[in-house]
Amino acid sequence: MKGVLVWSILSAGCALAVTPLSSVKRVTNLPIVANKFIVEVDSTSDIPTKRSNPHDALYESLRKRAIGFKVDREFNTQGLFVGAALTLSDAQDVAQIQSTTGVKSIRPVRAFDRPKPVKVQVVKGPDDPALPPDSESTHVITGVDKLHAQGITGAGIKIGILDTGIDYTHPTLGGAFGPGNKVIGGFDLVGDDYDGTNTPVPDPDPLDQCAGHGTHVAGIIGANPDNAFNISGVAFQASLSAYRVFGCVGFVTDDVLVDALLLGFNEGQDILTLSLGGADGWTESVSAVVASRIAATGKVVTIAAGNDGASGAWYTSSPGNGIDVISVASLDNTVVPLQTAQVHGVTHDPIIYQDTFPLPINDTRPIFATSTDPTVVDDACNPLPDSTPDLSGFVVIVRRGTCTFVQKLGNVAAKGAKVTLIYDNGSGFGAIDTGAFVASFIQAADGEFLVQQFASGQNVSLSFPQSGGLIQFPDPAGGLISSFTSYGPSNDFFFKPAVAAPGGNILSTLPVNLGLFGIESGTSMATPFVAGSAALLFQAKGTSAAVGRSARTLFETTAQRVPSTHTDGDPLQTLTQQGAGLINVFNAIHTTTIVSPGELILNDTAHFKGTQQFTVRNAGSSAKTYTLRHIPAGTAVTVTPGTIFPADGPVPLSTDFASVSLSTSKFTLAPGKTQTVTARFTPPAAADPSTFPVFSGFIQIASGTEQVQVSYLGLKASLKDKQVIDNTDFFFGVPTPVLTDPNGEVQTSPRNYSFLASDFPTLIFRLAFGSPKVVVDLVSPTINFKPTLNTRALGDTHGSFFSFPHRVKTGSFAQVPTLGTVFELDFTSRNNDDPNDNGFNTVAIDPPTFANGTTIPNGQYRLLLRALRVTGDPTNEADFESFLSPIIGVNAP
Ligand SMILES: *[C@@H]1O[C@H](CO)[C@@H](O)[C@H](O)[C@H]1NC(C)=O
Ligand SMILES: *[C@@H]1O[C@H](CO)[C@@H](O)[C@H](O)[C@H]1NC(C)=O
Ligand SMILES: *[C@@H]1O[C@H](CO)[C@@H](O)[C@H](O)[C@H]1NC(C)=O
Ligand SMILES: *[C@@H]1O[C@H](CO)[C@@H](O)[C@H](O)[C@H]1NC(C)=O
Ligand SMILES: *[C@@H]1O[C@H](CO)[C@@H](O)[C@H](O)[C@H]1NC(C)=O
Ligand SMILES: *[C@@H]1O[C@H](CO)[C@@H](O)[C@H](O)[C@H]1NC(C)=O
Ligand SMILES: *[C@@H]1O[C@H](CO)[C@@H](O)[C@H](O)[C@H]1NC(C)=O
Repeated sequence: MKGVLVWSILSAGCALAVTPLSSVKRVTNLPIVANKFIVEVDSTSDIPTKRSNPHDALYESLRKRAIGFKVDREFNTQGLFVGAALTLSDAQDVAQIQSTTGVKSIRPVRAFDRPKPVKVQVVKGPDDPALPPDSESTHVITGVDKLHAQGITGAGIKIGILDTGIDYTHPTLGGAFGPGNKVIGGFDLVGDDYDGTNTPVPDPDPLDQCAGHGTHVAGIIGANPDNAFNISGVAFQASLSAYRVFGCVGFVTDDVLVDALLLGFNEGQDILTLSLGGADGWTESVSAVVASRIAATGKVVTIAAGNDGASGAWYTSSPGNGIDVISVASLDNTVVPLQTAQVHGVTHDPIIYQDTFPLPINDTRPIFATSTDPTVVDDACNPLPDSTPDLSGFVVIVRRGTCTFVQKLGNVAAKGAKVTLIYDNGSGFGAIDTGAFVASFIQAADGEFLVQQFASGQNVSLSFPQSGGLIQFPDPAGGLISSFTSYGPSNDFFFKPAVAAPGGNILSTLPVNLGLFGIESGTSMATPFVAGSAALLFQAKGTSAAVGRSARTLFETTAQRVPSTHTDGDPLQTLTQQGAGLINVFNAIHTTTIVSPGELILNDTAHFKGTQQFTVRNAGSSAKTYTLRHIPAGTAVTVTPGTIFPADGPVPLSTDFASVSLSTSKFTLAPGKTQTVTARFTPPAAADPSTFPVFSGFIQIASGTEQVQVSYLGLKASLKDKQVIDNTDFFFGVPTPVLTDPNGEVQTSPRNYSFLASDFPTLIFRLAFGSPKVVVDLVSPTINFKPTLNTRALGDTHGSFFSFPHRVKTGSFAQVPTLGTVFELDFTSRNNDDPNDNGFNTVAIDPPTFANGTTIPNGQYRLLLRALRVTGDPTNEADFESFLSPIIGVNAP
């Protein structure tokens, strides 16, 4: 997944307002693996065959139907998932397979990004003075320290980690592999060379010595406290197993994840944790489904919520979307350990710079400013003038702005610079990407001071103390949800993320050859924290299925509400980003008030479930009097007013709250007694449905100092009203969808293509919202059909509205003259604003074939793109949006 760290400014440059169409690579860029599918079969069905093996039965019936396929992987966990990953010769056979007796489902194989840490800082040694003095602060804010004090450390609990493997040779992770060690087992499902596109080469040894991510995750759960750095894992006596699903580079596909999930389940893991995923928006991906089923059996499955917070709401990550899994948000620490430089030659306070560890500079060096103008906007963006001296003996001072940090650093390095400080231009002080250069980031005022001293000829120099320079710099966002946390809900309105845990600036283990210890940030770091917390719960309450099934509700109902800002009067953060709040593991285990369910999902206005019930049970030993109170959170204005686009994160909040009437707001319960409460919700009165406002909040149930809560989430709009296909010029400067020619120009009139070399058309479309079904069909050029979108470019005849039947034949629609499907994608995520990451979809008609690989005969055609709206009926053509392309001639030699 994308690792966008809140505390990180990835680039000083800014995104282009409009992306040139000609810059678009004319290849298909969807996150699915072509022609690969996972088929689930009903193992108990009476497939019409004498064979008892459900796999053989499947293959035999596919062969009978003359379906070409290759088996990539078989799954056979009765009661959980029986099926196979297949490569089909013809993707269009999906419909036939779906209707095969005994086939429960067929889903495409999705690819999931590897977790990408933004900045890994390696700790240099046990005496490194830069170490955060309270490495256990994350344990304190979640009550983990109190559980450790009670001897609850995860002993006897088995946790499977699906990641890049674990460097079990690390002394803090036990130093060895196999039964009797901390890392008791696991498996490498892929091998070092696997990158998501090639064939995995499994082996039994899940050692991680090239990536490091899984080793960091493992330390958050299991670091032994007897290490030189005095850190410990949340559940440091738990037994770990490493299921390695990433090679040294690249991504992982669903079929590997499903295999790893089932392996972990079959090897008896109590908990499975996955710090990985990709923006998806739906609960349907096969790994999400299998993860959810494992959770439903009473195991705990924790999965990262994703680091796509900048993309706004309705952009949840899978497999974290799995209905019964715990999707985990990240919370920022309150302080960040930073270094200081000493100023010589003039009186000035030490200058704070953005590093946890000192820059490796021993001596005192004079400063050199590349510009004496402290307001320069493009400092060092171009090669420095010939008159520039050799900079190797200086600390070079450069102002932020216009080009990337790395570009500036490259230009000063060309003049010999060995150490550079870039000062802020007022955009914000945070960690920066300095590439391989020795450089750091300082605040605007400090930089302006240094430049003024340099300009006035003062002899100012700097030194970088190698010890004693550490300060605790208050993180202005500390204690808040990390802004990189992806926002929910899912398009099918599930409560994602579920809870938050500390995920920013976490010191943990790194592979021995990568430096032993380091600091990383992301929902990747928050996720193992919850896995470890679940181990503490299992140790305290036993590993029964009932405990496992109650885990998410216990964490949610005892969590701590998180505000949206530190400004008094601002609302609580929307539950679409904080879930039920920051977990308190001590309270989850020791609460004597049990509330269920933890989530009240009100859904959209068309499917509104405004009346909800929950129960409150006094599990204590004395009578308790409870007082109930509604505590709303900010209403997320998820779509920018006047547009069809989801608002970028941080998603704007309004104080237009829902109202709730409770059947009782005060009652007394004797020990062991339960009260049922009915809550009737009314959506926020003034919220504008065209902004798709998601309202959320809590009902607090308090007795003395004990406080528990239920969370609610609803939408004051109907999702079927949400436009799906982007028909604006927002992204490319011309309204999409478009068909582009080999020059990257929009085709506006009939055109013939030879399909030689690059002479083929490419369909480019954007989804402003997720869609359950996107289909591209080839149709007759004279089709009598009025698309719903962008008829402007047609230029030639099109008739009045004509109903299409969907391929799910209901007989209620007229027969359609489509000539064949070119492409179909179910349960698709929306796009975002980033041209380099899921900004748009391209479908290259290259070579000119149908989805089944059959060549399209020479002739004149149009492409018909259709996308179903969320909650739309796939058999009702009116629930689809459509775009009809100009005429394309297939004129292949
Ligand atoms: C190490 O951690 C323990 C508690 O976990 C604490 O009591 C002790 O003071 C710490 N030692 C150092 C050197 O920070
Ligand atoms: C800093 O000084 C120490 C001891 O004098 C030396 O070992 C080390 O190499 C020096 N480091 C740099 C970056 O010059
Ligand atoms: C600082 O530089 C960045 C990157 O060029 C730019 O986006 C931003 O507008 C600048 N900020 C100010 C306050 O000038
Ligand atoms: C500048 O300061 C440095 C260190 O403080 C000193 O070694 C040097 O002699 C000074 N140079 C001048 C010209 O004052
Ligand atoms: C919300 O309603 C839609 C439409 O009925 C349904 O498909 C979806 O599952 C519902 N979501 C939840 C969480 O119940
Ligand atoms: C495309 O080719 C067809 C058949 O060769 C021809 O009739 C038609 O005029 C051509 N169209 C264009 C726009 O060149
Ligand atoms: C592939 O699909 C096209 C269009 O639906 C159809 O005409 C053709 O017969 C199919 N080819 C095969 C081999 O089934």
